[in-house]
Amino acid sequence: MSIKKEIQKRRTFAIISHPDAGKTTLTEKLLLFGGAIHIAGAVKSNKIKKSATSDWMDIEKQRGISVATSVMGFDYEDHKINILDTPGHQDFAEDTYRTLTAVDSVIVVVDVAKGVEQQTRKLMEVCRMRNTPVMIFVNKLDREGRDPFDILDELEEELQINVRPLSWPIEMGDRFKGVYNLYQKSLDLYQPNKQKVTKTISVKDINEADLETHIGESLAETLREEVELISIYPEFKRDEYLAGKLAPVFFGSALNNFGVKELLDCFVDIAPSPRPIVAEERKVDPYEEGFSGFVFKIHANMDPNHRSRIAFLRICSGRFERNVNYKHVRFDRMMRFSSPTAFMAQKKEILDEAYAGDIVGLPDTGNFKIGDTLTSGEDLHFKGLPSFSPEMFKYIENADPMKSKQLHKGIEQLMDEGVAQLFTNQFNGRQIIGTVGQLQFEVIEYRLLHEYGAQCRWEPISLYKACWIESDNAEELEDFKRRKYQYMAHDKQGRDVFLAESSYMLMMAQQDFKNIKFHFTSEF
Ligand code: G4P
Repeated sequence: MSIKKEIQKRRTFAIISHPDAGKTTLTEKLLLFGGAIHIAGAVKSNKIKKSATSDWMDIEKQRGISVATSVMGFDYEDHKINILDTPGHQDFAEDTYRTLTAVDSVIVVVDVAKGVEQQTRKLMEVCRMRNTPVMIFVNKLDREGRDPFDILDELEEELQINVRPLSWPIEMGDRFKGVYNLYQKSLDLYQPNKQKVTKTISVKDINEADLETHIGESLAETLREEVELISIYPEFKRDEYLAGKLAPVFFGSALNNFGVKELLDCFVDIAPSPRPIVAEERKVDPYEEGFSGFVFKIHANMDPNHRSRIAFLRICSGRFERNVNYKHVRFDRMMRFSSPTAFMAQKKEILDEAYAGDIVGLPDTGNFKIGDTLTSGEDLHFKGLPSFSPEMFKYIENADPMKSKQLHKGIEQLMDEGVAQLFTNQFNGRQIIGTVGQLQFEVIEYRLLHEYGAQCRWEPISLYKACWIESDNAEELEDFKRRKYQYMAHDKQGRDVFLAESSYMLMMAQQDFKNIKFHFTSEF
């Protein structure tokens, strides 16, 4: 098969949701369709339950599980599907943001009873920033939930995207009869069954009398009325979906394997194959001959006895081959990999070749950090791996003076992995760690001790946000830095960051320095 055809068959995406909406369940059903697994219950939830926060071994165990299910590849019909898993726990949201830079589209799962929840909203913001095409699966129709029209309104409003239902539910909860598939023009009748596929009846025209024989007169009438009402939503246009402006919506029940095949069939049809990715130097087309890819995730210490890490590389263009030399752009050095891994469902296996759109696991001994690029030889730097302003900040101090070297190395490596963000105060040189949640501080402390033999101590610092600053007016920028010197820090790349103590202080700074832009992400 030609390289072009190989690339065209790929569909690389992530499923995102608020915890408990049904991401794990949906992933599992998709794998069942792909024949990648054979029984339900085979995919372990990647979520770290709140109750586990005090038990570190639990987190370690779960980290082990999550690496196995970090990327799940399988073949479906003529397509190669790569699902990238995202951590459920909100304290690891940064990890999810980065994963979203490595996908070509996403499926959002929403619970029909709960509607749009906080984390979905946040993740959608990232999708919007990148114009990622989005499909929505409204889940748990086997339970009572909200009116489908209300759900659509909420999706539109809260996720700030136009929606277009491509399937429509017939009742819900105990009365749930199935869905009318507007995309394929068929009636999918509900049979609660966790393993088997839906019964589908082709109904080319819902005005046919046939509808009544399957769902009865009154439901048939309601369905016709509702389908008529759906025409108030914008018509489905693939171009708009691909531009990230219109999200097709499906209804179903992942647990009962209902509506999942319909979703998958439509997905492989309309979802994008690998798309061009923007590098600082130029736009890189997936079909280019030269190979290129970037590291978007690093997973450490799968085996605590050996300091083993695995770098996840998204291939942006061309073909990757085992034992071929590629350029590590940051090191300006050629490297080759004798045992790169593919992720086929839950197995990791050595791969010989992979194509644009695929994710390759590269065993690593500390050569990679997030954002690193590998190419056939060209100097490329991929954009779009922004750091977001952390929500919580603490000073990190050495608690064991004999181990300062170890602490330094540990902090350095954990930050390269993207566990949290490091800021160095320009005034007093103290190091500040910024995180999204408390759990990350605990992970850092635990890992510094167990992996590097170093001990740290946290000291409180009251900060509101980290802002990356820029201005066309160099003089004003210098003046600002001089006046705010106590609050200026460098991030890991040496960029200037203003650490605002409070929202009020930030507002004052914005008022006083009109020519300075304050950004909450490191890329603008
Ligand atoms: P997550 O990854 O998004 O966090 O959600 P997950 O799939 O783990 O699903 C959360 C809970 O919702 C699970 O129940 C799961 O069985 C249930 N669920 C998923 N899809 C459906 C559905 O279509 N209908 C109904 N009624 N429930 C659904 P749990 O009790 O938390 O876990 P478990 O003991 O069943 O594994």
